[in-house]
Amino acid sequence: MKTLNLTLTNTYSKLYLNIANAIRNAIKNGNVAPSEKLPSARKLAEQLKVNRHTIMASYNELVAQGWVETQQRKGYSVAHSLPIYKALTYDKTNHSKVQKHEWRIVKPDDKSSQRPASSYQYNFAGGNPDISLFPFNEFKGYMNDALNRPPINELNYGDNGGFPPFIKEVSTYLRRVRSITNKEIIVMNGTQEALYVISQVLLKKGDKVAVENLGYQPAWKAFKNSGAHLIGVKQTHQGIDVEHLEVLFKQHKIRLLYLTPLHQYPTTTTLPVAQRLKVYRLAQKYNIPIIEDDYDHEFHYESQPLAPIAADDPAGLVIYLSSFSKIMFPGGRLGVIAVNKTLAPHIINYRTLMNHKANVILQDAVARWMQDGAFERQLRKSTRLYQKRRQCMVDILNKFKQEGLNLDFTLPAGGMALWVNIGCNAKKVSMLAREKNIFLLAENAFHLNEENCQDKFIRLGFSGQSEENIKQGLLLLKPLLN
Ligand SMILES: Cc1ncc(COP(=O)(O)O)c(C=O)c1O
Repeated sequence: MKTLNLTLTNTYSKLYLNIANAIRNAIKNGNVAPSEKLPSARKLAEQLKVNRHTIMASYNELVAQGWVETQQRKGYSVAHSLPIYKALTYDKTNHSKVQKHEWRIVKPDDKSSQRPASSYQYNFAGGNPDISLFPFNEFKGYMNDALNRPPINELNYGDNGGFPPFIKEVSTYLRRVRSITNKEIIVMNGTQEALYVISQVLLKKGDKVAVENLGYQPAWKAFKNSGAHLIGVKQTHQGIDVEHLEVLFKQHKIRLLYLTPLHQYPTTTTLPVAQRLKVYRLAQKYNIPIIEDDYDHEFHYESQPLAPIAADDPAGLVIYLSSFSKIMFPGGRLGVIAVNKTLAPHIINYRTLMNHKANVILQDAVARWMQDGAFERQLRKSTRLYQKRRQCMVDILNKFKQEGLNLDFTLPAGGMALWVNIGCNAKKVSMLAREKNIFLLAENAFHLNEENCQDKFIRLGFSGQSEENIKQGLLLLKPLLN
């Protein structure tokens, strides 16, 4: 038996455990092989100048853990079968096999290497809710209720479409505020999960998806990940150009249309009723499903928002998406799909491949919050505040205009941002702003084809920060807009 070189550390308070740890490391490192005999307790005790009983305690510990075996009169040896040892030798000897293995690599977002928008003192990222407005204390009560009377059966697997009391509340709410009926509600971990699953269910490699020329990149990425090609639809000052849509439907075999009709992302325009009807008729004629992303319908200011296309969908073509990220916070990861009853089970079954369900306790608490009416009270409160912030931004920009700045914008009927024409150099302005601790995006960030970029527009979010911050940030930005 060769001498066992051990490196003792003071990891544990007991000596026998430190010795056991050193022997285990020697085995892990391959200094002694499976089945190889270990030094007797007496020999190792002499080598380490400790009591023989201490070494026996170390060996017994390793026997209990499965690293060492002991046989009558034969002393101690390394266990003959160690899974960890097999894994190590596999890596060492079959290196080529490991290297040949192919991974599907998802390229990180260009933005992922940059400083997050929330770390800027003046954050004009469009579409940010003010999370500090969320009534955490009030919501704690609903969480407590959910935990005090836990829905034991629902906390298990099953019911993958969502927690029934939450579905009931959302159905009532969407029926009342968005006139959505005759659709099945599926609870998702936010809109992004919904977009991913819908893409997987509906699209195959080479399919064409029509999207707004200026639009929502995360949705596009989910479509492209399914192998789809994106076809850009032109936009007018009212939203998508329906004539162009018709040309595209004739020219290409479009498989899916993705739209943000209420507050177009990022230009904030509202698609008028007549255009919506035309879009729907076209979709019906060519039998093309529409994803209607109604991501911030809650924040509409002077009037009730126009009903979504999904509200009048006799052919069951519209896959309607609504998110709780703006009402609550993006980290809540809660959103819903309202879809026709034929497609619903396929979406649920696909989602079950990646995740069984959304967080049931959270759904339970939100359902209680909704049922109590506190949810809509909170919505009214934040809508009033966002309206004031929109006005604050509008007043400042109008003042800048009076002072001679070349600015142009249309007051959006709702949403969380303004789309402002600054004439030129929008991208440069967005970059220079960062040096002043201001975050904003210019139109180049939203184009499907950058060659369409006129470099004129910036998007200024007003909902995520206080009026004071809006004022200070815009004053700092002003010299860049000249
Ligand atoms: C166009 C659009 N859709 C959906 C969402 C919400 O996405 P999620 O529910 O995945 O947070 C956002 C949020 O920024 C958005 O801008």
